[in-house]
Amino acid sequence: MDIRNRFEQHGQGHVFQYWDDLGSDEKAGLLEQAEEIDLDELDRLIATLVKATEVHSEINYDSLEPALYERIPEDLENDVRWQAAKQAGETALRSGRVAAFTVAGGQGTRLGYDGPKGTFPISPIENKPLFQVFAEKIMAARRRFECDLPWYVMTSNVNHEATEAFFAENDFFGLGGGTVRFFRQGRMPAVDLEGRILMESKGAIAMSPDGHGGSMRALDRSGALSEMELKGIDLLSYFQVDNPHVQVVDPYFIGFHALSDTLMSSKMLPKAYEKEKLGHFCISGGRLEVVEYSDMPDSLTVLRDESGALKFIAGSIAIHIVSVDFVRKLTKEGSTLALPFHKALKKIPYLNASGELVRPTEPNGVKFETFVFDALPFAGEAVIVESTRLGDFSPVKNAEGVDSAKSCRADQQRLFAQWLMAEGVELELDEEGVPVHKLEVSPLFGYDAESFSESWKRLGESVDFSKDVYLS
Ligand code: UTP
Repeated sequence: MDIRNRFEQHGQGHVFQYWDDLGSDEKAGLLEQAEEIDLDELDRLIATLVKATEVHSEINYDSLEPALYERIPEDLENDVRWQAAKQAGETALRSGRVAAFTVAGGQGTRLGYDGPKGTFPISPIENKPLFQVFAEKIMAARRRFECDLPWYVMTSNVNHEATEAFFAENDFFGLGGGTVRFFRQGRMPAVDLEGRILMESKGAIAMSPDGHGGSMRALDRSGALSEMELKGIDLLSYFQVDNPHVQVVDPYFIGFHALSDTLMSSKMLPKAYEKEKLGHFCISGGRLEVVEYSDMPDSLTVLRDESGALKFIAGSIAIHIVSVDFVRKLTKEGSTLALPFHKALKKIPYLNASGELVRPTEPNGVKFETFVFDALPFAGEAVIVESTRLGDFSPVKNAEGVDSAKSCRADQQRLFAQWLMAEGVELELDEEGVPVHKLEVSPLFGYDAESFSESWKRLGESVDFSKDVYLS
């Protein structure tokens, strides 16, 4: 068979070693996986990322400069530029130019939760899953801007069926099934440290999602991109499934993008401390780059300017506006703008030479992933907009400690408390600034300070905050 020969020629013939032992379904499954692999691309990745002793970096750290960003003005209400951006963003929303876009194809290994991460319960009282929190924010935005605001959700083979089933079971959280579109990202084979494809069973290659950068190709391949073009959607509000704080559509941010010539914009937060694990927005060779925290030399991470502020202060929080035209450009047949693959050393269960499954305790293989922020150097003008931490970012990455469900629930309550206290409500807070009695605000009641304030004033009844309170 032709495909077996091809694998043989690329030194990966072992993939079909147990072919004769497989049933017809297993054979079909293995063939489907094998067909997805671009063996020439894989050879290149093995040579450059697995076997090469030195990984080549395009970045010259000696001439690296911090990227400039739009700072939140002290008097936001009266700042001409920020208000113009807000207006442009609202107009884009009202005229149906925007879609929400969530990347939810990851494996969520650090969280260690059984099921798609978006189904993880996260709100402090009602235990709403992440997907529901986003759905309610989208619903609130639809009402506010009187628009369709469709939602695109990228899944992967790991969680596609379970994600679709979850939305169906929950009646799409009231959004209407036709307005939420799921599509799968691509996958890549994992290889061992010599570059041999790892097998997870006799009939299955160890494959994993190709990184959030895979969203660009997947948007095109799935037909979602053409669908958007037909609907007149030209802006994607991109966010990750693990961050319930995100403003799913932020008029200021959308407006700054729409008023510029850039094809992709980003939100930033000033780093909370020198070695916070956020990518750094930098200018390298005149182009915007996100330099991962693990790649940034310590000397630059801690560098301060004359005023004592961190020089490389702008941290990436994985929130972007991406122009639909840009995705088209990146994915066009023959485009030279393909996102580069990175390698991740992982512990990958595999079938050993005697056909037994081994669960390694040390990293034994490499997964290949692309990152969406690697598109930024191709996007033209750098547009980076400052955000506030509670207003946009508290991700759920880990089972415990930093960026865990516990820290995220505490942050949600800090934010709700902030909104209430701005309305003159007195709340009892613990020494970490978290309300002593639990607090939750439905996004349908308020999803930012402004919408909350409006609902609060309309409520007109007194609320007893000496017990848990859910405002909906
Ligand atoms: P992370 O980089 O945190 O990865 O993803 P992860 O897979 O969720 O978690 P770990 O590293 O295994 O613990 C950041 C965001 O990018 C999405 C995730 O779903 C999350 O929203 N993502 C990541 C994808 O959509 N596809 C991928 O291949 C990787």
